[in-house]
Amino acid sequence: MQMVTTIKQVKEQVNQWKNEGETIGFVPTMGYLHEGHGSLITAAREHNTKVVVSIFINPLQFGPNEDLDSYPHDIERDRHFCEELGADLIFHPTPEEMYPQDFFTYVDMSVLTEELCGINRPGHFRGVCTVVNKLFNIVQPNRAYFGKKDAQQLAIIKQMVNDLSMNVEVVGCPIVREEDGLAKSSRNTYLSSEERKAAQIISKAIFTGEELVKSGETNVGKVISTMKATLENEPMAKIEYVKVVDGLTLAPITTIKAPTLVPVAVYIGKTRLIDNFFVEGLS
Ligand code: PAF
Repeated sequence: MQMVTTIKQVKEQVNQWKNEGETIGFVPTMGYLHEGHGSLITAAREHNTKVVVSIFINPLQFGPNEDLDSYPHDIERDRHFCEELGADLIFHPTPEEMYPQDFFTYVDMSVLTEELCGINRPGHFRGVCTVVNKLFNIVQPNRAYFGKKDAQQLAIIKQMVNDLSMNVEVVGCPIVREEDGLAKSSRNTYLSSEERKAAQIISKAIFTGEELVKSGETNVGKVISTMKATLENEPMAKIEYVKVVDGLTLAPITTIKAPTLVPVAVYIGKTRLIDNFFVEGLS
């Protein structure tokens, strides 16, 4: 497995692979890899002959008071992780390589980016769309893999690929959870042991909502109030939102019918965590 830092190096390698008839599976990440990322790399390995992983903490998608400076990183650990899972190439650029001083172009999307996480994280999805677009142009993947935990991100990237007629298949992969249910996230490392225990309440609320819907409940208000009541049992949990939205447009709905997305964002101490369930998944 190679690890390279420049756009030129990636382009040369992927051009050679393309000329040799290889197919490229791409897993964009911000590093500090966990089993959630592992499942994306494994899926990419299964469907393609070459696998590229990018590890880049993208400054464009962090707001001024967010955790850019403290975002966890350990490139040697990530390198071993990717190697063990059979990746072929890691692209680990510097911010200057991705955004030189004369960088002026951004990818902006309306509607989908204004809901849910977009409300309290203005500019976040503009940063995500810009970097993913740029990474797609560099890596030229046949398929790109994203986790369904970031359901809004997945919907937005699918929309961008469709709107801009991009030549890549976007594959959504299931949420990977810790044994106690907490969705895997690099940000889980911010939690103290007390907060880590308290964070279980998020998946409890998700499973409670999911059971309610499975048992036939279609009333959005009932599902939201039951999930909020579960979260409120944990004094360390501060709800940012519990919503029920259309699974494709992310617009609020009043009656649950597939495809529906039920996302939550909750603070445990200073750590903001997200989770969700689909009444019928994004594929
Ligand atoms: O999901 C992430 O880790 C990031 O948003 C992504 C897609 C790698 C873009 O920086």
